[in-house]
Amino acid sequence: MPRDVRPTPATPLPAAAPSPAPGPARLPVALLGAGQIGRMHAARMQRHADVVLAGVADPSPAARDWAGALGVPWAADAGELLDRVRPRAALVATPNQLHCPVALACIERGIVPLVEKPIADTVEAAARIAAAARTAGVPVLVGHQRRHNAMVQRARRLIAEGAIGRPVAVSLLAAWLKPDAYFDVAWRREKGGGPVLINAIHDIDLLRHLVGEVVSVQAVACSARRGFEVEDTAAAVLRLAGDALATLLVTDSAVSPWNYDLASGESELYARQAVDALFIAGSAGALALPQGNLWRYRGEGGAARHWHGELTQECTPVHHRDPYAEQLRHLRAVAEGRELPLCSAEDGLATLRATLAVLEAAAGGRPVVIGAAAEVHNPAS
Ligand SMILES: NC(=O)c1ccc[n+]([C@@H]2O[C@H](COP(=O)([O-])OP(=O)(O)OC[C@H]3O[C@@H](n4cnc5c(N)ncnc54)[C@H](O)[C@@H]3O)[C@@H](O)[C@H]2O)c1
Repeated sequence: MPRDVRPTPATPLPAAAPSPAPGPARLPVALLGAGQIGRMHAARMQRHADVVLAGVADPSPAARDWAGALGVPWAADAGELLDRVRPRAALVATPNQLHCPVALACIERGIVPLVEKPIADTVEAAARIAAAARTAGVPVLVGHQRRHNAMVQRARRLIAEGAIGRPVAVSLLAAWLKPDAYFDVAWRREKGGGPVLINAIHDIDLLRHLVGEVVSVQAVACSARRGFEVEDTAAAVLRLAGDALATLLVTDSAVSPWNYDLASGESELYARQAVDALFIAGSAGALALPQGNLWRYRGEGGAARHWHGELTQECTPVHHRDPYAEQLRHLRAVAEGRELPLCSAEDGLATLRATLAVLEAAAGGRPVVIGAAAEVHNPAS
């Protein structure tokens, strides 16, 4: 395996790069749900070469005033805005429980939705989105933006090329201290709004994307720190296809740098920490993300290739690319039929199924077998 060491560029690369869109016009994209993440997407759209913010749907007076200040059309209702503005694509950033009706409103109008994760709050609702998309022939993208991170793409390539051999054991850490004000929004305290479904779903999607399908789950959840209906802390053991085992720890109630958000530098909301949060140990090597370091026994000078030998650590910085901006470039390319979704509705559904299995296993106190239903073909892989 050659070392993939590339020089740091003298000037930053454009936020969204590789295949430039054919025409100069930017793709009109409606924002459906203008809360915390919706506004972050809008800020990127405003400086993006491929997309333009076509309008905002959100019933809150604050969103109406914000859209007015931006000078873009506003409606309280998603369907009303879509009928008025007729965008080519839409970004669905409503509370989880509304992803399904809002995504369906897009699909029935032939508008390509990028649905924030989770694709929906239940497997049934996610399956409805996937079925409607198939019937209408409208591609759906799911906002697992980590798949657009250059370091994640490198890790996927390395694993596929056999750099770590066969994955054996994986550990995922997702621990932070969220501010109390974050929970002033009711849906984040209620069923479907806890850190497993809001946050750990990203880690489970990475696990599926990099290592393999989740086939069974055991878990324990706890809500003792915040006392809400939803968990604040959970621990899970996941069995993957190919017999790798993974552990997952998630909490929104403890001080910790060990989570992908703080460690990846993907979002300006977080002060970056130079740590890892995802550890993959294989039969021939080990990889940790998001820093991307790779460990292997080289056996140089006849040294042992096991725990008594010398373990080599390779560090390979990659060109920085904002995954959220790259996701918007990809949205345009999918809407124009030039690319297939990197995370399709079926893929989002399989990630949701595995994530909900964590909550189900914790609630039932026994393992949940996911089985063949989770086998997913990712059209873009
Ligand atoms: N990919 C990521 O990194 C990431 C990060 C944060 C949140 N999210 C996801 O994005 C979604 C939104 O999260 P948030 O933190 O921005 O929530 P939020 O509560 O801050 O914002 C949700 C917005 O949707 C609006 N809304 C409610 N009903 C609506 C309707 N019928 N039509 C249109 N808008 C409606 C609300 O008024 C609010 O402004 C969630 O699904 C969440 O899981 C993804």
